[in-house]
Amino acid sequence: MDIFKTTESEVRVYSRSFPVIFNRAKGAYLYTEDGTEYLDFLAGAGTLNYGHNNDTLKAALLDYIQHDGVSHGLDMFTRAKADFLTAYKTHILEPRGLGDYKVQFTGPTGTNAVEAAMKLARKIKGRHNIISFTNGFHGVSLGAVAATGNKGHRGGAGVALASVDRMPFCNYFGSDVDTIKMMDKMLSDKSSGIDHPAAVIVETVQGEGGLNAASMSWLRDLEKICRKHDMLLIVDDIQAGCGRTGTFFSFEPAGIQPDIITQSKSLSGYGLPFAIVAFRSELDQWKPGEHNGTFRGNNMAFVTATKAIETYWADDAFTKSVQAKGELLARRLKAIADQYGPAQMQLKGRGMMRGLKCRSGELADKITSLCFEKGLIIETSGSEGQVVKCLMPLTISEAELNKGLDILSESIHAIMKSELSKAS
Ligand SMILES: Cc1ncc(COP(=O)(O)O)c(C=O)c1O
Repeated sequence: MDIFKTTESEVRVYSRSFPVIFNRAKGAYLYTEDGTEYLDFLAGAGTLNYGHNNDTLKAALLDYIQHDGVSHGLDMFTRAKADFLTAYKTHILEPRGLGDYKVQFTGPTGTNAVEAAMKLARKIKGRHNIISFTNGFHGVSLGAVAATGNKGHRGGAGVALASVDRMPFCNYFGSDVDTIKMMDKMLSDKSSGIDHPAAVIVETVQGEGGLNAASMSWLRDLEKICRKHDMLLIVDDIQAGCGRTGTFFSFEPAGIQPDIITQSKSLSGYGLPFAIVAFRSELDQWKPGEHNGTFRGNNMAFVTATKAIETYWADDAFTKSVQAKGELLARRLKAIADQYGPAQMQLKGRGMMRGLKCRSGELADKITSLCFEKGLIIETSGSEGQVVKCLMPLTISEAELNKGLDILSESIHAIMKSELSKAS
């Protein structure tokens, strides 16, 4: 442990919640050096939707390396890139009516895809302003963090964060206030103080912001006011995409067509860094190299991403299984929440991106700490860290899912018993 304390920066986060040394991972499990097993309900913060060291993806990657496939190719044409584009176009874009979309390879992090999306929108519209939402999280580089709500992340920037105006997300003021109407009024009023935005950037389910799920009607209304006010609609699907909510893109059930989509996290399917921006072809107004990056051609990620798409997205079997497990997850979490009432706990999220909003961040921390003691890795999100967030691999078996939920439920009951007895 000493090497981390003496040599790794204090900026680290997850290792504070899970202070053990992991050295092996398989499926839905992580293992420490001494062989202790942990069920993983964090899954690389949504990066391991197909589980750790997925055998099918691993075999494709090993074969590629064995044959000296190109590992790094800047943005040169490679066979691996052609195969990825073909699989993405054939199995993802075309079946969803997005067949004419272009794909931009950015630096391999989510935040770089967001930077590219925002830059492109500003360039196309010739306007600086972008609308993002309360509790949105889009990354921590300067452009993306300007669109991020979280105070801690914004505080790290060290400069004024400009050219983004915030609007209230769906249900921010409760279900009685229509935040789209509010936004429409502000955008229509020439003296509201909002500079005409180039774009709106939105997560359909706010992952880091506390699993706030926008309703389908809110998303449709958002698309409408983007059209009405000549703003591009950017859906940041970095966390909610790749099947996390039950469909490949999280916006599919709303029937909307974003102008620009950002993807990263589980896109490579194997935890390999990889990010893209997809947009309507007429929006492809980039000049060569205008947004670049040395690692925008992670060929090993192309290989595993292609295999993941061919394995899980060529038919609807995977979607159905994710939807079924999402329902099981919701049912079990709701049963826990109902036991304590909405003042203590509420069900949040959509699909397999669900959790429990606790009375306080302190309570949520106590729950996740006890879970860890009992062999379950699970984190919190939300403005106060008040949401216990379940982000297990989508490939988890029903038995493993129930096992993790048993640990979560036992931990909650133990903590609540002691909390309620303190209060009485
Ligand atoms: C919705 C969303 N956008 C952007 C990002 C930033 O991605 P990265 O951490 O890879 O820069 C994240 C990361 O959690 C995210 O959830």
